[in-house]
Amino acid sequence: MENHIINLTRGVPPAEVFPIQEIQACLETALARDGGQILTYNFVPGYAPLRQIVAERMGVPLEQIFTGNGSLEIVNFLSAIFLGSGDTAFTESPTYDRANTLFKRTGANIVGIPMEADGVDLNALEDALKKQTPKLFYTITDFHNPLGTVTSLEKRQQVARWAEEYEFLVIEDSPYRLLRYQGQDLPTLYSFAPERVVHLCSVSKLLAPGLRVGWAMGSPQIIGKLIKWGIDSTLASPSPTQAIVYEYMRQGLFDINIERLKAVYAPRLVALAASIDQHMPSVIYPKPEGGFFIGLTLPAGNDMDTLMKNAAAVGLKITDGRAFFTNPADGERFLRIPFCTLPPDEIETAVQRLAGIIHH
Ligand SMILES: Cc1ncc(COP(=O)(O)O)c(C=O)c1O
Repeated sequence: MENHIINLTRGVPPAEVFPIQEIQACLETALARDGGQILTYNFVPGYAPLRQIVAERMGVPLEQIFTGNGSLEIVNFLSAIFLGSGDTAFTESPTYDRANTLFKRTGANIVGIPMEADGVDLNALEDALKKQTPKLFYTITDFHNPLGTVTSLEKRQQVARWAEEYEFLVIEDSPYRLLRYQGQDLPTLYSFAPERVVHLCSVSKLLAPGLRVGWAMGSPQIIGKLIKWGIDSTLASPSPTQAIVYEYMRQGLFDINIERLKAVYAPRLVALAASIDQHMPSVIYPKPEGGFFIGLTLPAGNDMDTLMKNAAAVGLKITDGRAFFTNPADGERFLRIPFCTLPPDEIETAVQRLAGIIHH
């Protein structure tokens, strides 16, 4: 283990959790049953049986579901549809760095609203809303990337109220929602303002990211805009993978797989939290109840350039915490630790190495 480099940058499922044989069987069943449809151009908004089964799971009509090439493609479409040069988008700070990149690409002005342990800072959001109305607010309500936090019920309700009052779109990006290892689910933000919120989910963290299957749930108006944009952008949906996911859900395997994943990931979260508490007691972090990440704030005296240099020297690959923040300087002491990819013994070694290079 001494010279082995431990990679703390990857928020992806480990290869051993992919149910390869089940996926292979689902593809065969799908092709045998519906191959002609699956192999032709399958029009946006996606393979209809998958949309139907997702709609049933989410409790909405079929017209309210749009499937995409992963949920990030849907974020890309929404940002292209709703944002232009000179518009404003609000995001959480920190947030998922790739979403931020997509918003920036449109030429929009990005305002980062600080996060607290129970979601976005409502005072800061209110102040920002008084200054300008954004076209959209991007929020990760369940097991945040990179913080691991869950937005409280009160905050969900308040954001929904403001979305209606100020008339902006909320993108509720929720790929980790079903990976809860403790505690109780909260209602989606979507449920409080279904006309104003588009809720995104994906099989990337629940089955396999290589399938590139994600979906949006939203009002028929928003889904209609996505369909138009999607047809012009991609012509057709990649239906073989969507048909695999349909078959996987139809056979009841999807929920079984989620339980299997929780059994793998929950002990890794426990192991990471225990190692941090033991070796780095001066570090602050909100304790996650699910998802993929713990977000650490290191004590004063640490800085990212030194940390990255020293991490490389002790065989750790870490993500530059500044990348998650609207104002990069705010991430000078921030570290995202993904725990799902690593076996518990590597987690312990990684934290020991980290403890050896930070200022406590
Ligand atoms: C918050 C968030 N949204 C979206 C994605 C991308 O998901 P997909 O693979 O469905 O495009 C990720 C992946 O890490 C994520 O953390």
